[in-house]
This record gives sequence, C-alpha cells and structure tokens, in this order.
Amino acid sequence: MYKLLILLTFGALFLISCSSKKDLIPDPVPVVETKGLKEVSPFPFGASVSINLLKTRVPYENVIRKEYNSVTAENAMKIGGLHPSENTFYWTDADYLVTFAIGLGIRVHGHTLIWHSSLPSWVTNFQGDAVAWENMFKTHIQTIVTHFKGNVTSWDVVNEAFNDDGTLRSTIWSQHLGNDYVARAFQYAHEADPNALLFYNEYGHEYSSAKRTAVNNMAADFKTRGIPIDGLGLQMHTNQNQTDANLITAINTAAQTGLKIHISELDISLNQANNQSLVLTDAHLTLQAAKYKVIVKAFAALPTAQRYGITTWNVGDADSWLRSFYNRPDWPLPFDDNYNRKPAYQGILDGLK
Ligand code: XIL
Repeated sequence: MYKLLILLTFGALFLISCSSKKDLIPDPVPVVETKGLKEVSPFPFGASVSINLLKTRVPYENVIRKEYNSVTAENAMKIGGLHPSENTFYWTDADYLVTFAIGLGIRVHGHTLIWHSSLPSWVTNFQGDAVAWENMFKTHIQTIVTHFKGNVTSWDVVNEAFNDDGTLRSTIWSQHLGNDYVARAFQYAHEADPNALLFYNEYGHEYSSAKRTAVNNMAADFKTRGIPIDGLGLQMHTNQNQTDANLITAINTAAQTGLKIHISELDISLNQANNQSLVLTDAHLTLQAAKYKVIVKAFAALPTAQRYGITTWNVGDADSWLRSFYNRPDWPLPFDDNYNRKPAYQGILDGLK
C-alpha cells in the first residue's frame, strides 16, 4: 500500500512536470501571410465590386482595401447602371467607386460599354433609322468614356460579341449597326479618351477553340485596319472540372495576339451541375485551390508587358453572382462567406511563387 502511494505520488509529479514543461514551450506559430495580394503579386490583382456592399459592409470594404489594386464595377458601369434612359445618365454609384479607388491610388477598369445583355428598355424599344442608331451608339460610348476620362484606366469596350461556335452573335447592336459595330465601338471610345486602354472581353476561351480563334482573328483584323485595341479580357467563369490544359491553352492562345491580357472575371464554381443540396467538402476546396494555382501560374508566366492583371468576380463566396444568378449553393471565390481566406487564396499565392 505504502509503495503504491509513493508510485502514485511520483506519477502525479511526473505528469505535472510534463504539463508545466509543455506550457513553457510556445505553440508553433502558424505562418500567416499578412500582406495583401497586391503586395505579393507582380501584376495588378483586382475584384469586381458591388457598390451597395462597399457602402454597407465593413469587412467587404476592408478586404478590398487590403488585397486589391484594381477594381471593376460589377454592375454600376453597365448601360443599365449608367444610362437608364435615353437622355439620363446616372453617375452616382460609379463615381462612388472611382472616388474610393482614387483615395487608395488603385486602378479602375471600366465594364462594359457595349453588351447585348442587361439592356434597359429604352434601348430595346429604340426607334430610328441607321443614322439614329449610330448616333445613339456613339453618344452612349463617348458620354461615358468622357465622363471617366483620366480616372478609368481601361474599358471593356464590347462584351461577348461572339457565339461559342465562333460566329458573330446576333444582337440588337449587330442587327441595327451591322457586323462591324465592334470595330466602331473601339474607334468611338478611342476618340473620347485616347489614353484609355481598350479591351475586348469574352467568356469561354477555356472550352471553345472556335471562339478563341474568332477573337484572335478579330484582333489580327483590327491590327491590320488600325482599329485601336489594347487588350483581351478573358472572363474565365470556370469550374473545378475544367482541365488544366484547357485553362493554360486559353491564356496562352490569347497572349499570342501580343495584346495585354486581363483575366477579367475569374471565379471557379464548385457546383457547375446545379446540385441544390451540395455540401462543401475539403476535397472541393483542395481541387479549387489547385485550379486557382494553375490559372495564376500560367498568367504569371506571360511577358510582363502583357500581364494586365487578374480580377476575381467579386470578393467573398456570399457575394458571388453564381448563387443568385443560378440559384444554387456555390463557393467560387478566394474568400469565404465571412471574408476569411480559403485554400483558393493559398492556391493564388502558390501560383505566384
Ligand atoms: C453579372 C453580375 O455579376 C450580376 O450581378 C448581374 O445580375 C448580371 O451580370 N459576364 C459579364 C458580367 O461580363 O458583367 C456578368 O456580371 C457575369 C457574366
């Protein structure tokens, strides 16, 4: 009994000494990247911004302040946002973003002057002959570019003019202005601000070789004809299942034009199948991080002068258009619903290494 007591006492003393020793050893400090993407990346890193969220959600604003040196208005610079009726322009929201960006000394990319989607009814109902349409088109472009002259560095002049099969999309613009409207949009924008960098923005380069060929042919044609184009925007609304080879080919093919390349609307869906009951897993997050890395790495390998930047389409998963547009759960961005960095963020850092 006496021996047992001694044993127990020593045992207890041993345990106490172990635990107190453990307390003396500091826990390993996790390596946290305290810099923002803009400090780590050798090319501009940006996000599209909802003006309403910027005004109302402090963590959202904080992430933008910390991470990015380029911003694009998610909707506020579209025709419906800026030009709600024929003779009315609404600048307030877009100007708010521009003032915010000027305060931070960061770049504003304008999106988008001409698009077939998000059209206000005054455009879809517009009556007039070819001259009236041309005048409306030119006035729209030049009023906006002139307003932001000197503060908006670059514009998506035309968005999504091609079909996936490489033919020109039939839109209200092509129908009333003829197929060469894209070139004239660039000329009008250039007249209004000769210093603005002018981009053609499109989606699907990663899955349609016909579309990327059509875009590159247009760029070559513009060069021959002296139409002022500076860059190509690759929206890259892609998903976890897209192959690395396709993502890399999209970027490298666009770069063959010699133009500046902007990955302009990046997001990587985890629920491209629209599964309403999908649950987010670590496996999803790991795969997504790997895809972000592939895209960033391929982009980082382009010649410096061609790297206009990478812009994600909004900031945190909860802000993503994919949830509302497709009405499904999804987690496509580098920040989660609470603006914490996801594995995807680490994927971006890995791609920059
Ligand atoms: C989307 C916005 O994110 C949504 O809020 C809006 O309802 C529809 O437009 N390609 C583009 C972007 O060029 O302008 C689109 O943005 C997403 C697809």
